[in-house]
Amino acid sequence: MAAERTPAMTVSPMTVPGIRAHKGGPPLVMVTAYDAPTARIVDDAGVDIILVGDSVAMAVLGYADTLQVETADLAHHVAAVARARPRALVVADLPWLSYHVSREDTVRNAATLVRAGAGAVKIEGGRKRLEAIAAIREAEIPVMGHVGLTPQSVHELGGYRLQGRELEAAREIVDDAVALADAGCFAVVLECVTDAVARLVTDSIPVPTIGIGAGRHCDGQVLVVHDLLGIPSGVPTDGEARDLPRFVRRYAELGTAAREAVERYAEDVRRGRFPSSAETYHASDSVADALLAASADLPAAPVEPSSA
Ligand code: KIV
Repeated sequence: MAAERTPAMTVSPMTVPGIRAHKGGPPLVMVTAYDAPTARIVDDAGVDIILVGDSVAMAVLGYADTLQVETADLAHHVAAVARARPRALVVADLPWLSYHVSREDTVRNAATLVRAGAGAVKIEGGRKRLEAIAAIREAEIPVMGHVGLTPQSVHELGGYRLQGRELEAAREIVDDAVALADAGCFAVVLECVTDAVARLVTDSIPVPTIGIGAGRHCDGQVLVVHDLLGIPSGVPTDGEARDLPRFVRRYAELGTAAREAVERYAEDVRRGRFPSSAETYHASDSVADALLAASADLPAAPVEPSSA
């Protein structure tokens, strides 16, 4: 059953002005999706924004970090999501090195994502991105900002960890977010910052903040859909169980449910329980009898010895 839509979840398509108008209103719901069926599921659940994140690298493609995907990879997944024709606003991540290039190439990369079906792009980083944001906005493409933990800077940051712990670093994040809002970003993602930093940013900028690991004082929340559904990523773990970040809440265990379903299927096949008669196309009696009679005239098929 589709979720009942709240007044914030109108049936008309979600737009950038609609997202901006959410400031201070009912919390915005953003979730990632990278393919058409998932986009359909999350849209039917009534989310406001579908993020085709560069987290596709780990969630779907088996890479260890987000640095491995390019604009063409993102465009491929944006197009799949857009084919589901979601009501939610589709936001596409500009991947690493797609906006650290010339103004022309930055705009071309953002346009590739829009032509694939995105209604806006997301860019990581604060004040050092102002030029890129101005160029993209000049091309009439709405931009969502992203500060705090910016996974594309993993090597510079020394890992995926809480940002803005110390006062000076906290102030830098607030100043970055204010600069992004001044530059016309229609929303800003706050990733892995303390609730005090998130509260100050949320109170300081006129556009919605969307938190992930940023506590409650945000205008919305985002999670990676695989994390909330309990689908393990394809990244090899060498058998080690990975700790979930503290901000992830699991709403389902689809990975476990899927593995158990395939185990049951394998067991049924091996024990001759699948397919059943009801799952089989049967010939009419006359055709079956004729085929049986014809088979009596065929030479016996040689049996190859099993190599197992
Ligand atoms: O790529 C992504 O999934 C993101 C979210 C974590 C905000 O950028």
